[in-house]
Amino acid sequence: MSGEASFVVVEEGKARVKVPAAERTERGPGNKEDAAVFYNPAMATNRDLATLLMAARAQPGWTVLDGLAASGLRGLRYALETGVPLALEMNDWNPVAARTLEENAKMNGVEAKVTRRNLAALLQEQVWDVVELDPFGSPAPFLDGATRAVRDGGLLGVTATDTTGLAGVFPRVCRRRYDAEPMHGELGHEVALRILAGSVARQAAKHEVAFTPIFSHATDHYYRITLQARRGAQRADAALESVGHLISCPACGHRSFSEERSCPECGGPVRVAGPLWTGPMLDVATTDAMQAKVPTATLARWRETRHLLNVLSGEARAPPLYYDIHKAGERLKVGSPSTAKVVGALAQMGRVAWSVHFNRLAIRTDATAKEMNEAVRMASLG
Ligand SMILES: C[S@@+](CC[C@H](N)C(=O)[O-])C[C@H]1O[C@@H](n2cnc3c(N)ncnc32)[C@H](O)[C@@H]1O
Ligand SMILES: [Zn+2]
Repeated sequence: MSGEASFVVVEEGKARVKVPAAERTERGPGNKEDAAVFYNPAMATNRDLATLLMAARAQPGWTVLDGLAASGLRGLRYALETGVPLALEMNDWNPVAARTLEENAKMNGVEAKVTRRNLAALLQEQVWDVVELDPFGSPAPFLDGATRAVRDGGLLGVTATDTTGLAGVFPRVCRRRYDAEPMHGELGHEVALRILAGSVARQAAKHEVAFTPIFSHATDHYYRITLQARRGAQRADAALESVGHLISCPACGHRSFSEERSCPECGGPVRVAGPLWTGPMLDVATTDAMQAKVPTATLARWRETRHLLNVLSGEARAPPLYYDIHKAGERLKVGSPSTAKVVGALAQMGRVAWSVHFNRLAIRTDATAKEMNEAVRMASLG
């Protein structure tokens, strides 16, 4: 690899980092792993939210490992923007990345330890208050080590871009990496996030650590979860109690976390996904604390991040397992009524609805599948 690759300086939040001008090296195009360092602007909102979360939850003096740091942008933003003094370590096994990490830390006036290790090995050797996994593709190879390496009360941040596996486009990929059955279609994104969280909880159990998701979100390009660690065998046992299966009935639209293999509402056969996390995926206290940090934050994607956080704050208060209104309309053969009309019909029944951040045609509601069907029928009548 050439050390002469041309670099540009990018600004995001309060950080300025050197990144390669193009994701190509002298060895030619193609393999991303060949790129000297890596910068993905599509992750700016992900980093905005993660920085808000750290501002809300990190304690002064916490040790933070940005384990797959590339340019170091994520870790540097934590150091520069949270207002919490942190001991930052940035690691990347790519020699060009490691050199760039040193330079980027200096350029931003951040004191950071830079290491050039295979993360899988590094995770076996120490513990940190925060471990960040931001891989190319799947975090699966690092989950065992990462769940061992977080201190009691600390946080694990996981980004996954192997979306086709987790969302069930390629179910075999999901089975191999996460030992779980995905569910392609209506509930795909939520199932994906829950499979990822469930995989963390299951991997952590052997280290006698319990991980609980406190913040999670999805786009078509990535899944992102932050989980809190609590050490102890009993806590790990309790976390495993929240790992189970999801069933979904193609006939009547029922969906629930259940170990049954037939529909409790109509008795028909169901689709099954899991094992996956069945507990909350968003913690209300955390989203509230993040909201409180927004007015003084330096966000890279101001409008998008604020909007997303608003929707997520609502979802934190909503029941799991949303309904896609178009899919419900198809199932009931009534076309696709407007979301506003369905929400209105639900309100008449005394039911509440919340938006879903990754699907504008979907709602979360406290209504049963039967009530939801009725609301969709009513709304389609005009
Ligand atoms: C997607 S990039 C990280 C992006 C970065 N966190 C950001 O916010 O811009 C993944 C990085 O992980 C590094 N990497 C991949 N496998 C690794 C391993 N086993 N140990 C250490 N670094 C690794 C790659 O060199 C690459 O720079
Ligand atoms: Zn049914």
